[in-house]
Amino acid sequence: MPKVGVLTGGGDCPGLNAVIRGIVKSAEAKYGWQVIGIEDSFQGLILPGKTREMDTYKIRGILPQGGTILHSSNRANPFEYSEEVDGKTVVHDVSDRLLERFKELGLEGLIAIGGDGTNRIAARLYDKGLPVVGVPKTIDNDLQATDVTFGFNTAVTTATDALDKLHTTAASHHRVIVMEVMGRYTGWIALESGLAGGADVILMPEIPFDIETVCNKVRHRAEKGAGFSIVVVAEGSKPKDGDVTIVEAGGKGKGMARLGGIGNKVGEHIAECTGMDVRVTVLGHLQRGGSPSAYDRILATRFGGKAMGLVAKGEFGRMVCLKGQTITSVPIHDAITDYKYVPLDSGLILTAEAIGICLGR
Ligand code: F6P
Repeated sequence: MPKVGVLTGGGDCPGLNAVIRGIVKSAEAKYGWQVIGIEDSFQGLILPGKTREMDTYKIRGILPQGGTILHSSNRANPFEYSEEVDGKTVVHDVSDRLLERFKELGLEGLIAIGGDGTNRIAARLYDKGLPVVGVPKTIDNDLQATDVTFGFNTAVTTATDALDKLHTTAASHHRVIVMEVMGRYTGWIALESGLAGGADVILMPEIPFDIETVCNKVRHRAEKGAGFSIVVVAEGSKPKDGDVTIVEAGGKGKGMARLGGIGNKVGEHIAECTGMDVRVTVLGHLQRGGSPSAYDRILATRFGGKAMGLVAKGEFGRMVCLKGQTITSVPIHDAITDYKYVPLDSGLILTAEAIGICLGR
């Protein structure tokens, strides 16, 4: 039986296991391939002892499970791999070692499930001869080539649920509650959860905000008798005259910069300019955990089946994607050109402003 390797890279997200299941089930039922699970992202192809045979029995029950049974890492870039050599930590290119290991394992294809970082690595490995197919994953929904990524719907549901809960406590105490959500350099999670959760203010990276406008909105609501306000802030938001707030810089061997902290800054400003009682909630990794929604399970299963189909047909160097209602694929290089920002003329933004939500401008 021909063998295909499967790995999950980057931050985890609800629906990864559903993709793995879609691959294993279709490999077995339709294509007659053996699936080999590769652990800890690309590390499983760099270090020995990190692979396992997978079949329908071994993956039983994983469809509703969050996380990834293959584990993941966002620090496993083979082109900038950090390891100990002669007692010293070096960051170097081990991509040739990875290609060797791929051959030793007798694999004829690789399916890399990940976000922009993982697909960028997959594209570079494809250029070096690795037969790879990408599957887009991220709660941030920020990949250009696909209309939607699985995990996003679940993250929005989690954030909306949190907003419902924050609403009742904010109203009880006449407080302003600021909730910081993930999303990296895009505002999809903030905008959709803010709309679904009835936020009064939504701040997102696509619209650098004026803090005075935000304060005016909160003051205006207080004057009109609403003793509380709910402010949703995407982690990548920045003020008109400032920059994104970073917790930890990224770099060679370290992965991408970690964003976060803007929620506290916005909260401090609102407290100062309105004199109101303000509390800040950083939702953090709750957004990445838990069982995938029905929408994400279906999308992930369709992506898994499609990826396996591409492998079986020998159509490598592609990434599966959703266009409208159709699962299709694009060249993996086209998939990683830029982030998918929320378009400023999108219906979501127009609706938000039409119902009086302040977007900080
Ligand atoms: O890309 C997914 C994501 O959850 C972002 O929204 C967030 O900025 C980042 O990953 C957090 O990464 P880490 O798990 O390394 O803190």
